[in-house]
Amino acid sequence: MRDRSDMMPLVVSEIVRETPHIVSVRLEAADGGVLPAWEPGAHVDVQLVTRQERQYSLCGDPADTRGYRIAVRNEPFSRGGSHYIHTFLRVGRRVHVRAPRNLFPLGDAPSYLLLAAGIGITPILAMARHLAATGADWRMVYLSRHREDVAFTAELDALGDRVRTHVSGEDGRLDLGAVLSALAPGTDVYACGPQSFADALTGLSDRLPEGSRLHMERFEPKPREHRPNEPFSVVCSRSEVTVEVPAERTMLQALQAEGVDVQGSCLRGICGSCAVPVLGGTPEHRDSLTVDDASMVMYPCVSRSLTPTLVVDA
Ligand code: FES
Repeated sequence: MRDRSDMMPLVVSEIVRETPHIVSVRLEAADGGVLPAWEPGAHVDVQLVTRQERQYSLCGDPADTRGYRIAVRNEPFSRGGSHYIHTFLRVGRRVHVRAPRNLFPLGDAPSYLLLAAGIGITPILAMARHLAATGADWRMVYLSRHREDVAFTAELDALGDRVRTHVSGEDGRLDLGAVLSALAPGTDVYACGPQSFADALTGLSDRLPEGSRLHMERFEPKPREHRPNEPFSVVCSRSEVTVEVPAERTMLQALQAEGVDVQGSCLRGICGSCAVPVLGGTPEHRDSLTVDDASMVMYPCVSRSLTPTLVVDA
């Protein structure tokens, strides 16, 4: 868990029940001041009074410089963050928030398909609003199991008929493969939703037309096969220390125990907080962020080494 020294104390200024299971929360500086800027796809790390840290996509308007809006689904089997927010968080309470980071940025493309499932609507809503404002060629499909779970309906209605809501309890299961196959070549797909949705889309990515790319944000770690844990050494070039990583500890734990300044947040390889550039050796990427196994940026909260020694810029 990170300390709070790089976090902003913000105050809950509004809580809105968007659906029976989702609330949106607006956070502002205590003095109403301007907050660090963000772009669609960005998330914030939020540390609650329980010292639990969670990542939430920003779903408000980037032009609103004095408030961040997040939305939280009450997950009965959550690790506690959503339960706390739904049960105890009140207007006026203080939470600590790290400045927005964007691991899911919108790139340039001739056209876009936005796919949201469930609470995955949060980054997708901000993207849709941005694409609509810039005159881009875009469409959006928002999948929900039940009509009552469809959030932000007024805001989506205001975006017009480019937005289609598919309620599987009424409309049946959406054929995602057919949706991807029907895209015009060059259409980039941005998708966010629960693990089953992310896994299904990943399995269908060969249905994308020529020149199209699938960009996804995951809430849960991607299942990845890996070797059994083995010890290895990490040479930290800036700190000028060599850290031994035993089999039973993560690389992040070992680095932090030796005072190397690498911070973690999710500790599950999904938030990007602990990113470390690799200067030598071969990392074993076990995270859900790395798209190219040859990447020389690694996430030591979960990733390890394929070589006896790694050299990192830390
Ligand atoms: S702490 Fe989130 S990716 Fe490592």
